[in-house]
Parts: sequence; C-alpha cells; structure tokens
Amino acid sequence: MKIDLSKAVCIIQSGHVVGIPTETVYGLAADAFNLDAVEKTFRLKGRPSDNPLIVHICSTDQLKMLAIDIPESAYQIAEQFWPGPLTLVLNKNHRVPDVVTGGLKTVAVRMPDHPLTLELIRQTGPLTAPSGNRSGQPSPTKASHLHEDYKGELPVLDGGISTIGLESTVLDLTLSPPAILRPGAIDPAEIFRKTGIQVTQISSGSSASLKSPGTRYTHYKPNAIVEWIDTIPATFLPDIYYIYHTMNPGIKKRNVISYQGNFEKLAQNLYDHFRTADHLSYRKVQIECLPPSEKSHLIGALSDRISKAIG
Ligand code: TXA
Ligand code: MG
Repeated sequence: MKIDLSKAVCIIQSGHVVGIPTETVYGLAADAFNLDAVEKTFRLKGRPSDNPLIVHICSTDQLKMLAIDIPESAYQIAEQFWPGPLTLVLNKNHRVPDVVTGGLKTVAVRMPDHPLTLELIRQTGPLTAPSGNRSGQPSPTKASHLHEDYKGELPVLDGGISTIGLESTVLDLTLSPPAILRPGAIDPAEIFRKTGIQVTQISSGSSASLKSPGTRYTHYKPNAIVEWIDTIPATFLPDIYYIYHTMNPGIKKRNVISYQGNFEKLAQNLYDHFRTADHLSYRKVQIECLPPSEKSHLIGALSDRISKAIG
C-alpha cells in the first residue's frame, strides 16, 4: 500500500518495515538499531541470515555511529560519490547489531541519492535496506514492483522510477588494496579519476569473492530462461523477449526492444524487462552480447547481473 513520508517515519519508528525508493533500486527499510525490525526484513525477503544488509545514512557524520577505524580514503570517496550508488565496507562499530552484518566484523554503508529517502533517514536515523525483491529474484525499480511482490501488503514510499536501475557498487575499504566486491554504476576508473585511490575488482568466482556473502547466492533471476544472443534472427519467435543494445532490428514488435547504444536506459529497464517477460509468460529472454566494458562504465555491472540471471 502507498504511504506518505510522515506515515513511513511512524512505521519505521514502531519497528516495522517500509519499501523505500533509491536511485539504484527500491529497498526494504528498517531501523538499523532495532534488532526485531531488522530480523523482520530477513523474514519478509526470505533472505539467508548470513547475507548482511547495507546501512543507509543521510550524512557522513553518521558513519561513526556504524563504523570504527574509518580510513581517510572513506571520507575522500564519500566526498566525491555520496549521495550516490556506492557502498563502503568498513570495520563495524559494536553498536550495530550482529544480525545486520550476518555476524561479520565489517559493516556496509551508503548514502542513497533520493530526496524522499534522505529526508526519511533524517527523521528516523540509519536504516538497513536490502533490495526489496524476494531473495533470488530481480530487484524492484518501481513502487509497483513491490506492490506485486508483497501482494499490496507492504507499505511503500513511492519515489518514482529508480534512475540507475542496478544495485550500488560495493567497495571494501578494509582490504588492501581496496576491492570492489559487487560492480555497479561507479567503476574503478571513476574512483581513481576523482580521488586518486586505486581499487581492484574482485572477480565473482575467486576465493576473495567470499568476502561478499551475497555473491554465494543466486540473484536477479526471472522465471524465463535468460540467454546471450550474438546475431539478429531471421524471424522473431512470439514466445521470446529480445533485448538489443546496438542494432535496430527495424521491426516494431512488443517483444523486440532496441536500446541503440543507450546503456543507461538498458540498465534502468533491465529488471522491469525481466518482470514483464514473466508477466507475459515469455519462455526466454535473449539479450544481445555486450561490448567490452571500456565502452561504458555500466557494462561491467550489466554483464554481472545478466550473467547471474543466466545462472
Ligand atoms: O543499491 C543498493 O545497494 C540497494 C539499495 C536498496 O541501496 N541495496 C542492495 O542491498 O542491493 P542487497 O542486500 O540486495 O545487497 C547488498 C550486498 C550483498 O551482496 C551483501 O552480501 C553485501 O552487499 N554486503 C553487505 N554487507 C557486507 C559486508 N559487511 N561485507 C561484504 N559484503 C557485504
Ligand atoms: Mg539484492
């Protein structure tokens, strides 16, 4: 059900969960310092208890409530990228309940770039928020996705479409050198360009990727089979949903989508396409193979999410 900001504040303060908009994807928000409320989030989402949550803040002053031994690099990066689609992993302050971090000694923190959610956090304090989807499924990028997923029973603050559409970059600053555990809209090149800080990218099958518990679980999967495709077929089958990024197949059909090189728009709509494919009972989603990641900073993140949906 749709609620306004003051209602969202009341619900959070009374220990319940609210769907919130962010620029990446919608989240399931709860008071980060309320153990029962955080546990409710895990139950609602069907999330394994060893997969930790990101804590959302509205000012860098709140970092000290959540983390200790905060390196200078965290402030340099925050200055350039917050509010924005970047999560920092830091050493955890003992005040943060262990359930938030799945028992880890580190905590993930980000400042989302959405005016409604920033105002909510100003009034409630830091909020845990995993992506709002049920575990394993595509993340929600619209309030209506959360209404579908929770059969209209979840109170949701509607902040429009998530402009980025893919989850935040997760950067672990407790590793040396700092490492990206999950690719997102902000990539190592941009971090280096804006801060001079060199970060590495952990590839998802490596043993170091065990640092990011989320990478152990299946993700972003619609019910339809997802596949890469490298050529335009001679005929388009009615039970396949086709997503192209470069070519204009010169055909107007509801199941043939073409992005003409606009990777931002493709990222914004990817999960919505997965959901539409399921609503309309398509058997498969075929996505044109992506070009090398130098072409756009989003390609690494898109390729990560699509590969996980392929499974
Ligand atoms: O864009 C986003 O980050 C969205 C919005 C709502 O902010 N949230 C999101 O949360 O994607 P979630 O829970 O779906 O993904 C969080 C990821 C998981 O892969 C989790 O394992 C990782 O962050 N994570 C959380 N805490 C961590 C920690 N202390 N160390 C390493 N990875 C951590
Ligand atoms: Mg998620």
